[in-house]
Order: sequence, then C-alpha cells, then structure tokens
Amino acid sequence: MTSSACEIWGDLSGVRSLFPVLNRTVHKTPLVYLDNAATTPRPQPVIDAVLRYEETFPANVHRGVHTLSGEATDAYENARRRIAAFFGAETLVFTRGATEAINLVANTWASDHLQAGDEILISALEHHANIVPWQMLCERQGCVLRVVDVDDNGELCMQAVEAAMTDRTRLIAITGVSNAIGTLTPINDICAAAKSRGIPSLVDGAQMVPHMPVDVTAIGCDFFVFSGHKMYAPAGIGGLLARTAILEDMSPWQGGGDMIRTVTMERSTWNDVPWKFEAGTPNIGGAIGLGAAVDWLKTLGMEPIATREAALLSDMIGRLQSIDRVHLVGQPSQRAGSVSFVIDGMHPADVGAMLDRHGIAIRAGHHCAQPILERLGYTATIRIAPAFYNTDAEMDVTEQAIRRIIDVFG
Ligand code: ALA
Repeated sequence: MTSSACEIWGDLSGVRSLFPVLNRTVHKTPLVYLDNAATTPRPQPVIDAVLRYEETFPANVHRGVHTLSGEATDAYENARRRIAAFFGAETLVFTRGATEAINLVANTWASDHLQAGDEILISALEHHANIVPWQMLCERQGCVLRVVDVDDNGELCMQAVEAAMTDRTRLIAITGVSNAIGTLTPINDICAAAKSRGIPSLVDGAQMVPHMPVDVTAIGCDFFVFSGHKMYAPAGIGGLLARTAILEDMSPWQGGGDMIRTVTMERSTWNDVPWKFEAGTPNIGGAIGLGAAVDWLKTLGMEPIATREAALLSDMIGRLQSIDRVHLVGQPSQRAGSVSFVIDGMHPADVGAMLDRHGIAIRAGHHCAQPILERLGYTATIRIAPAFYNTDAEMDVTEQAIRRIIDVFG
C-alpha cells in the first residue's frame, strides 16, 4: 500500500468494511471487484441515505404541502446544492446519467444552435454515448461529425485537437478519461483552446469523477456530464453541470410535470432552470444517494484517492507487463481508472469468464467504445479497473489467476 493510503485509511479494512458487497463470495471465492469503470460498488453511507428516504419520507418532490413531501424536496434540493458545490459548478441538472446528459445537450442547445455544415469535434477515444447522440444530430440537421485521431499509444495530442478545429467548429465534445484504455486527455488545455476560438465545449466526465478532484470552473468547459453509479452512488442518477445563463438560454427537452410553470390546452410556459429540464418525477432516492456519495468522497479526499489509484494502476501495469503473451492495448503517458490488454491466442470473453471462476470481476469486450478499439487494431480487450479500496493482495491474486489461466488454457 502507498504511504498516503496507510496514513489516511489505515490498512484499508475500515474503508472496505463500508462496502457490503465485498463480503460476498463468487464461485466460493472472495470477490475481487475490478470492474469499477463499469460501475462502482455502493458504500453503507450511500445505502443508508437511500434507505432513509425510502423508509421515512418516500414522497414526491415539489408537489405536496405535507411533511413528507417537504422533507423529500429538502433532501433532493440539498443534494443538488452539495453535488454542484463538490464540482465547483453553478447549476446541476439531474439526469439518469452521463448518457442522458449528452442527449439533453444534443437535443436542446445543439439543436437550437447548430446548422447544416456546422462541425462537432469529438475524439477517437469517445465511448458510444459521446458519439451516437452527435451522429443522430448530424443526421437530423446536416451537421458534420469530425473526429480527432489518437496516436498508436492511444494518446490524444493537443496539436491534433487544435489542427482539427476549423472555422465551422461549433462544439467540441471530449472525454476527460477514456473508459476503454484509460487515457487521460489534456482536457483543460482543450477547453482553453476552444474558448479562445469562441467554441463551446462539453466534457464527458463519467470516468474522471471517481478518480480525481474535478472543478468544472477550473476546467473551463461549458457543459460537464457525469454518472453517479461510477462514483459510488446508485445507478440511474447523474447530471449535467453548466452555468445558469447557458441553461436559461436552452429550450426544454422532455415535456411533463415539474418542467412547466403554466399549462393550458393552447400552450405551456416553462419552469426555471434546472427544473425546466427535469420533466416527471425524478429519481429522488438516487439524487439523495448521490449527495451522500459526494459527502463520503469528501471525507476520504479526492487527492488521496487519486494518489492511491495511480499507485494501484501502475502496480497492475507492471505485473501485466511481466507476463508472457500479455499485450497492453493503449500505452498513454497519463492515465486513470483502467488498463486494457489482450492475451495471445485467447479471446477476452473467455479470459473474463475464467477470471470470474476465480471470483475476479473484470470487463471483457468492446467496452461500449468500439471505434477506439478498432483504431488500435482490436475488437475486444480485457479491462482491469481498480479503485482505491482494492488491496495489494487483490492485485496479487489477479496476477496469479491470469498466469494460471495462461498456463492451463493458453
Ligand atoms: N461505460 C461503462 C464502461 O466503461 C459502461 O464499462
């Protein structure tokens, strides 16, 4: 364990004891959970916050005069304020997650502002959620989707991003961290370069937020999207962070209760931001759980989390590089969250299934990011995505399991 982890979390047993799922076995073996890029486990403070809502004030928000509804509204809106503050943001619109937040921007701001021939710039690293909504927009409005390539290490170079910006670029939408190969992109520089040319920027922060301190004002983006379930909150909640003024200028998207001010059979008028974008009963328990996740991450500290995870990743990469027939896919100079690899002569899905027999949960496949794997010459990889609560012993168990699988089946 790194010294900072020792100093802050003791031997990790305290922090690990907060995750009920880590007590379970899989195929009669203690679970080793290394699929944190797909979703993180939920700690007890998050589970407790959701249960408290469900058990003691399971009411709708913004709708009732009764006590329970007031309590639910307070908890929901308090969570919004704490989460926005955690990210240094002016306004948070709750969505189902990063995917819905990108679709919101594509269907509102981008639909209103982009015309035929206008360009949207993304990178070759994007996962499907930051590709497909733009393709759909291009199809509808005749816009052009331009893709900045990465180099053969899976690195996104600033010069390539700058070279791809043209006088028709109207939006740049880039991930902060690649979910498939772990590349950390120069997101602050990209947003600064976009701003200096008057181009709005959207950052897909789904794979950033669990691993590092994030201040969206410092990043300088116009839109920042993230998912709660990748940062220890329940699934089905996440958000869009933006300045109030830009959100006020956007058309509503989904229509229904809560997003309206008045409704007649002839026409309707819209509620204030952010509720204008939250039609229907929201995921109230999820939002409260996300608020609890943010509170809990603050007590742990995002800096120590980043330090611990960098050490874990570098340890795992060293172990993988020491195994014959293992090849890393993507070798960016800066990374966070995960490492992807293949094993000569073995299909990633088979390796994933065999690791599962050892109680080890990883993701194998295209990771919902087919273009970047294809760019690097693969259709599937094995992805190990550790988080700060994983132990050095678990890294050891995983290395030994991979070696054994290669010996026996390779
Ligand atoms: N985007 C998620 C992943 O990388 C689902 O696994």
